[in-house]
Amino acid sequence: MATRTRQIGLSLGADICWPICYEALLHKLDLAIDVGGETQTFAVERVGIEPFDLGQPCKYDVVIDRLTHWYHTSREWIKKSILSDDLYVYNNPWSIQAMEKHTTYCAMMRLGFPVPDTWLVPPKSYIESPDLLPTLRRYARLFDLGEIGDKVGYPLFMKPYDGGAWVGVTSIRDREALHEAYNQSGTRLMHLQQAVAPFDAFVRCVGLGPQWRFVNYDPSAPLHDRYQMDRDFLDPSDQKTLSNMTMVINAFFGWDFNSCEALRSGTTWYPIDFANACPDSQVTSLHYHFPWLIKANLRWSIFCAATDRSMHTNLNWADYFRIAEKDMSFEEKLEEYAALALSYFDYERFTEFCETHLGHLDEVADEFFASDVARDAVHQKVEALYPEHEIEGFTEMFWQRIQTYRAHNPV
Ligand SMILES: Nc1ncnc2c1ncn2[C@@H]1O[C@H](COP(=O)(O)OP(=O)(O)O)[C@@H](O)[C@H]1O
Ligand SMILES: [Mg+2]
Repeated sequence: MATRTRQIGLSLGADICWPICYEALLHKLDLAIDVGGETQTFAVERVGIEPFDLGQPCKYDVVIDRLTHWYHTSREWIKKSILSDDLYVYNNPWSIQAMEKHTTYCAMMRLGFPVPDTWLVPPKSYIESPDLLPTLRRYARLFDLGEIGDKVGYPLFMKPYDGGAWVGVTSIRDREALHEAYNQSGTRLMHLQQAVAPFDAFVRCVGLGPQWRFVNYDPSAPLHDRYQMDRDFLDPSDQKTLSNMTMVINAFFGWDFNSCEALRSGTTWYPIDFANACPDSQVTSLHYHFPWLIKANLRWSIFCAATDRSMHTNLNWADYFRIAEKDMSFEEKLEEYAALALSYFDYERFTEFCETHLGHLDEVADEFFASDVARDAVHQKVEALYPEHEIEGFTEMFWQRIQTYRAHNPV
């Protein structure tokens, strides 16, 4: 039988901990698997940044990318490689470039997701440009911000239409605070969004291919404690709703790796922030959940490489909109959307592939996450982020949380 080495590229930025663990584990797995009449082995390397000829071939089968959303040289290299060499990359670079939070709100509202009432207001000020004055003079209508605030209702959140990383997000209690926040918002285009308040649960559901993990999230905690370590904190119907929402969002936008933030009030889950393609992967935020992420990443990337998964360069929104128009409850529609999403992610074939070829992953990972190499990866990341006197303490804390994950998931 012919042997073929599948090449996996890591397109990285400030990442330290997860690539070390990913590479070490891929090596330890030592795969030689038979797919389609070939024995497949796997190699991984880090993708460099350099000038490229637009006709230059790409050696990788799969690239796991961490740069597309902000570093354009890599994004354009990725686009070229998809178009000319059938590279599979997560995530879809065109979709990342074009879909901000605002688009995701509008699209999921059309599908019936209970996104809290949201308004978009023109910016407070502008960067000058030649046509700006005539445009505004002719067409910008004076509006009463207070009236819009009353319509949305208090408390509300003012936040950038293309937000991320909590930048420019203000919680607003009344008209006066609304005017003050708007006056300070400068040139940023803002949403006013009804607050889900009070809420009784806040979950971040991380999706990676057809895999998901629920994280109880505490937005008021310091960064290293926001991802809580609770287990089994959701009943099966909440789990179904959140995993279905996450899979639908991810398949709809072509994002293999994304996280969906939702708040529960009463029995309703309100999604508020789900344009997070390429979310935080660092042990310093994920700690307890970090081994899950590394394993999920290995499973999905190996599957995509081994099966020659094709990039879905066109998104199939019309299929979802057809379901949206049916005379059914949102719960019923969500089931139908989710069936499309899981089929998009080849869920059944993926599950079978993992059972057949990656049955030893949990055991190999468990051993690895007790090793000096893994502890050193944690140490290196902490060293890059924390002041000298906190390095040992935080390294040990994150390491112990990983050990708790191991204890909770015996192999
Ligand atoms: N509608 C809302 N109801 C309640 N809390 C909200 C709402 N919108 C935002 N928040 C709070 O503000 C934080 C940041 O807002 P979010 O939309 O997640 O922006 P970002 O994209 O910057 O993460 C959220 O994690 C949450 O704590
Ligand atoms: Mg958020």
